[in-house]
Amino acid sequence: MRIDIITVLPELLKSPFEASIMKRAQEKGLVEVFFHNLRDYGLGNYKQVDDYQYGGGAGMVMMIEPIDECISKLKAERDYDEIIYLTPDGKTLNQGIANELSLKKNMILLCGHYKGVDQRVRDLFVTREISIGDYVLSGGELAAAVLADSIIRLIPGVLSDETSALSDSFQDNLLAPEVYTRPAEYKGLKVPDILLSGDFPKIEEWRHQNSVERTKERRPDLFEN
Ligand code: ADE
Repeated sequence: MRIDIITVLPELLKSPFEASIMKRAQEKGLVEVFFHNLRDYGLGNYKQVDDYQYGGGAGMVMMIEPIDECISKLKAERDYDEIIYLTPDGKTLNQGIANELSLKKNMILLCGHYKGVDQRVRDLFVTREISIGDYVLSGGELAAAVLADSIIRLIPGVLSDETSALSDSFQDNLLAPEVYTRPAEYKGLKVPDILLSGDFPKIEEWRHQNSVERTKERRPDLFEN
């Protein structure tokens, strides 16, 4: 997979890709990530990327020309399966969307700022609009990092134990069960006996039951669809 990220603030975005699982995925050659500073495509001596909005009102709007330049350059080099705009008015990210996107080959992530991008960018180039939740961030960069992380860990071979992504919360619309490690008793709090029993079919059954109970209690909405 190749991910191209278009941003006015690459420095805000780089470090999550330089640690842990996202770093390892790149080292293993399973994903390539490239950052494109939109400012490099800005207009005039000041490398302008935003302007006042037509009709008046507070806040700047990201202009179409620099974004067109950057996207057109990338599209001339290869085909893209998706051009995703991160925006609070997009479709809310969930595990199903992450699963679907983990099967793609090339994608562009476009990070918005200020009041967002000129509507014509969305009309002309964007194939999907994704929000990471009902709150507003200062820009799309942190959302792009969240989206990329949720996708990259699902690419086969990225996680060393392939079953561990399958047993994540939400993978089957259930929350993950409680987990424990040593010691077996801590300050009077014991690990459930079943987990020490070595009876693996029973343990699986207990875990499933625990997932169902936790989901009922914490996220009853997950049973609705
Ligand atoms: N940009 C600003 N807020 C955002 C959000 N919640 N999700 C995605 N992109 C954003």
